[in-house]
Amino acid sequence: MSVAEAVAARRSCRAFLSDAIDADFVRDVLVKASRAASGGNVQPWRIYLLHGKRMDTFKAGIAERVAKGLVDTPEYPVYPSPLKEPYRTQRFAVGEEMYARLGIPREDKMARLEWFANNYQFFGAPMAVFVAVDIDMVTAQWTDLGGYMATVTLLLEEAGLASCSQECWSVQHKFVSKFVGMPAKEMLFAGIAIGKADVEHPVNGFMTARAAPEVWLRDA
Ligand SMILES: Cc1cc2nc3c(=O)[nH]c(=O)nc-3n(C[C@H](O)[C@H](O)[C@H](O)COP(=O)(O)O)c2cc1C
Repeated sequence: MSVAEAVAARRSCRAFLSDAIDADFVRDVLVKASRAASGGNVQPWRIYLLHGKRMDTFKAGIAERVAKGLVDTPEYPVYPSPLKEPYRTQRFAVGEEMYARLGIPREDKMARLEWFANNYQFFGAPMAVFVAVDIDMVTAQWTDLGGYMATVTLLLEEAGLASCSQECWSVQHKFVSKFVGMPAKEMLFAGIAIGKADVEHPVNGFMTARAAPEVWLRDA
């Protein structure tokens, strides 16, 4: 698979098979992805790999919290408030497409919330990573986290593994930080669920749209 093919094929997976994944293989991917560029070669990503029995314990613990409706205030703003156009419509579209595939109408808020809660079981993925950053890093280093995460997801794609980046963990950062033993000087950015895609599941049956280049690409 070429890089271009991996870029074209990658999509966020929201239903995984429970098949175990080789932790050593994924660790190797995480190390390979550290070839991602970062401003000043600062390499600000701090990565926590979760799998096996620890993953089972994590999932049980977070399920209890989610069932009780416990959430933390995010440590960073996940979106600007309000989210203006055209960004708002683009965000809305992906949610609507997903719930249409799942057959959950807009009025059924409870069913939508229940589906959303699958985020906190990594959509069934057997493995995940958490991406953190030193609290003293600034905006530029946060963008480097994105470069690292994109590299990880493309390498996984090449290996036939699916992924879903997840900033939903920002509202469970206290539980995550404590569980993984994150030092106080680090802040959680996001998770990445990793596993084999359940290709039969309707939620995995669509590719998200992209804005036309005229919206965001200009000759300078
Ligand atoms: C940093 C980041 C955080 C994300 N957080 C979530 C999340 O919490 N839950 C989720 O279902 N998808 C999440 N996504 C997936 C996006 O919704 C998805 O990338 C976008 O809709 C484009 O679709 P695609 O990845 O299939 O191309 C996240 C993606 C990124 C890059």
